[in-house]
Amino acid sequence: MNHITVLLDEAVDALNIKEGNVVVDATLGSGGHTLELLKKVGESGKVVAIDLDQEAIEEFEKKIREIDLGNETNLASRLILINDNFKNIQDIINKLYARDGIKFNSVDGILADLGWRIEQVQDKRYGMSFQQDAPLNMRMDGQINGLTAWQVVNEWSEDELAEIFKELGEERMARQIAQEIIRRRQEKELNTTSELANLIVDIKVVNPKSGIHPATKVFQALRIVVNEELGNLNIFLEQSIKLLKSKGRLAVISFHSLEDRLVKNFLRTKARGCVCPKEIPVCVCDEKSEIKLIKRKGIKPGKLELNNNRRARSARLRVGERI
Ligand SMILES: C[S@@+](CC[C@H](N)C(=O)[O-])C[C@H]1O[C@@H](n2cnc3c(N)ncnc32)[C@H](O)[C@@H]1O
Repeated sequence: MNHITVLLDEAVDALNIKEGNVVVDATLGSGGHTLELLKKVGESGKVVAIDLDQEAIEEFEKKIREIDLGNETNLASRLILINDNFKNIQDIINKLYARDGIKFNSVDGILADLGWRIEQVQDKRYGMSFQQDAPLNMRMDGQINGLTAWQVVNEWSEDELAEIFKELGEERMARQIAQEIIRRRQEKELNTTSELANLIVDIKVVNPKSGIHPATKVFQALRIVVNEELGNLNIFLEQSIKLLKSKGRLAVISFHSLEDRLVKNFLRTKARGCVCPKEIPVCVCDEKSEIKLIKRKGIKPGKLELNNNRRARSARLRVGERI
């Protein structure tokens, strides 16, 4: 199965891209959004596409070469591929100034389509899914250096595990699952995604009609921790709005409530500006609005997309425009 791009038209339209623009796709993935953005910016524009997964970069490099050959286009000349974490977006753009003349606060649009792509979930090397047996890894860069799910599951304390399952997985049986992990690992280390998933299936009663695997929330929590998803997103959002030029847009697609809440609160805070208590008649904080919200409630996929792609069910696009 190949990755299906979520909210493709909605996200590209929301960015309001014109010929000659400079756009950053902070999450290249399989390149569905990037490809559309490349067409929109035209010959005189640039698309900087970032992914921490080297595999995604190499695949897209090949894909663009094939598209260019088959269509006698030269999309590659307006594409800059960067294998890095989007939390470094400011440094990435700073370095591009010397090479490609892309200036700080001259970016017209920034997109992030958060989470993972289906190829990562299907590839055992990433050890992300409870659908197949694989070593517990969960790193989106596919590396085994740095924190992995194996370390969290086998080395963290009961309290630490219970806390992440509750806070990052919103798992109501967080404590019981953490206790069971500790009990089982005293007998033998938990090495694979199946061992962990089966442990959860053994102790968690779920409504079979819900269609949700009992391990879903614990796996979500582990992926968030291992990839520092919320911390990285926070840094990315703060840096991104500084890079945008006036009227430049930031668009973020998220897939779970923790991410969406973070993006929503960030955009609302930056749109509000003044943080003085209501009782004070004149502003003394001097905080100014930095962005304007585009659609307060965020954008959800339409019926057609929902029918074609289950993953789109939880997607929410939020957009802010730099003042
Ligand atoms: C949902 S996919 C993007 C799909 C893409 N928009 C498309 O249409 O094919 C998310 C991608 O972002 C990458 N990613 C996740 N977190 C990242 C981060 N902090 N920095 C850079 N890339 C990241 C993942 O490796 C994955 O390839």
